[in-house]
Amino acid sequence: MTNSITTESYIEDNSIFRVGSVIEVIGQAVKVRIDTGKNTSSILYKGDIIQNISVGGYVKIKKDFEEIIGKIEGELIKENKDNSQKNYINNKDKVNRILNIKILGYLESGKFERGIKELPLIENTCFLITKEEFNNIHQFVDSEDKPIKIGQLEFDDGVDISLGINKLFASHIGIFGNTGSGKSYTLAKIYRQLFEEYKNNENFKNKAKFIIIDFNGEYIDDAIIDEKGKNSYNLTTKAMKKNDKREKLPISKSTIENATFWSIFLSATEKTQQPFLSRTIKKTNISEESVKALIKEFLSNESRNVEKGVIFNFLNNINEFLKKETKVNDLRSALRYHGQQNTYYIEKIYANSDLDSVFTKTLECLGGITIKSLSDIENIKLKIIFHYYSEIVKGYSNIENLSPLIKRLEKRILDLEKVLTIKDDDSSENKKNLTVVSLRNVNMDIRKMLPMLLVKELYDKKKKDNNKSHSLHIIVDEAHNILSSNSDRESKEWKDYRLETFEEIIKEGRKFNVFMTIASQRPSDISATIISQLHNYFLHRLINNNDLLAVEKTISYLDKVSADSIPNLATGTCILAGLMAKIPVVIKVNEIKKIKNQPQSHNINLIQGWE
Ligand SMILES: Nc1ncnc2c1ncn2[C@@H]1O[C@H](COP(=O)(O)OP(=O)(O)OP(=O)(O)O)[C@@H](O)[C@H]1O
Ligand SMILES: [Mg+2]
Repeated sequence: MTNSITTESYIEDNSIFRVGSVIEVIGQAVKVRIDTGKNTSSILYKGDIIQNISVGGYVKIKKDFEEIIGKIEGELIKENKDNSQKNYINNKDKVNRILNIKILGYLESGKFERGIKELPLIENTCFLITKEEFNNIHQFVDSEDKPIKIGQLEFDDGVDISLGINKLFASHIGIFGNTGSGKSYTLAKIYRQLFEEYKNNENFKNKAKFIIIDFNGEYIDDAIIDEKGKNSYNLTTKAMKKNDKREKLPISKSTIENATFWSIFLSATEKTQQPFLSRTIKKTNISEESVKALIKEFLSNESRNVEKGVIFNFLNNINEFLKKETKVNDLRSALRYHGQQNTYYIEKIYANSDLDSVFTKTLECLGGITIKSLSDIENIKLKIIFHYYSEIVKGYSNIENLSPLIKRLEKRILDLEKVLTIKDDDSSENKKNLTVVSLRNVNMDIRKMLPMLLVKELYDKKKKDNNKSHSLHIIVDEAHNILSSNSDRESKEWKDYRLETFEEIIKEGRKFNVFMTIASQRPSDISATIISQLHNYFLHRLINNNDLLAVEKTISYLDKVSADSIPNLATGTCILAGLMAKIPVVIKVNEIKKIKNQPQSHNINLIQGWE
């Protein structure tokens, strides 16, 4: 009895599902000749509608007990040259329909696995896949992983696509597409799903840290999760007002006291300015005593030829750090340089006086020197200025070499103070695990520099700490802003430093549980090293040929049907590819229900605004 049922179902399945047989195998590319009479677009079988053969659909090829799964990439017609069949019943029999199939994987105890275990042979039979097998192929979540639902298959309506949290978030993610194709929305959606799933989980809050670098201010307020659940920093480089209480990003002391950072920030030249900064940044903060000692040194200046005006420049330069500005002009009129003795003297009163009395009189003239309480950034600025003059007066350095550096310092440090505040290295960690840094209102210099500084700090800290149960997720929308490999506006050193930092995170980050998510409209601008090392991709509509090439070149397992569909994808639709998905699929990303949780990037409705 059992046997007869098995046989019956065997015949039934074979006759309905059989498509044809293999006629050519070249690597992963297989050609199948279709049996005649397989021209309907769908088949009704046991109450389920099953797609008949269609480009983009799947087939199963049986080779003994192996079941090989392939995707139909194209279909063509060849004339039937078989002479034995002279009496054609109708014209259809004169041609053979041939399918081009690319092998994707195989079924192992009913489960789909990606990759090639065996290739088919000529004459192997090819079948349509059942509904169950179809669902199986699109089941991307491992049994030990936890699913989040993010969308639906675009072409086979109704099939939900869930992704495994582990596979997705313990990876580098790339989201690419033209402007308005839905990148920011997709980014917000996947992270919203994650936070919704774990919002009440204390371990999640303590062990996973997320930072969003937000160039357009799309993720502040309630985007992704409500404002109270995250730290938002809406930075600006607009001019400071009195008692300015603006939001500033806390950054640790060790980051700001790093000579490499200052070298790059100030575009220091390699030979003289960089070594100067390395010597200087390490030193202790400047005290009143050292300022006075330097003044004394200027006054004596016995053997060396420092231009006489330099002491006044020094005093003018440090005035901003003092409680009460010194009266440099008073001193200037009182102090005279005594050429023959290579010393200063105070005219008339101390015509032939010794150094000590000139020094005392000088301090009196200036009205005393008291350093006011300085921010850490101001302290560093004072340090750099002080040692610049100190090295000049001692004859260690040359004014011509260092003065351009000091000019840049004056200008650039102003911006830095507008956006950063310094926190102690061991200050307690913030409890909220999502931080959004909006760079919408900052100028170009800070846009380039700050993400670097911040990401480097977080990465270095995570590397040192190397706590295996903690993870850091760095999310950068509009990533071409900082990852572009062809920018002429910046120095070569800075570009190298920038790319090296991010490339290191992409290459080594996984070992320290540091993962990056990058979204960009110009993948062709981003260094190929970075794109090729990403694990998971959401590919939205891309039209520019260079961008398409950049993506296709690096994602080798992208089949032709998927790749060809990229320029025509609708907004909110994308190709999912990478480790998280066993096969690349086209999905429609689900809506984020509440408008306030969507990224603030809505298309403007012109007519509505005019009415
Ligand atoms: N899955 C989706 N469902 C519904 N609406 C969507 C979806 N994806 C995108 N949109 C809408 O499409 C518009 C553009 O989306 P989005 O801002 O994400 O594009 P983008 O690719 O990030 O563009 P840009 O490169 O300019 O930042 C928005 O108004 C957004 O609300
Ligand atoms: Mg966007």
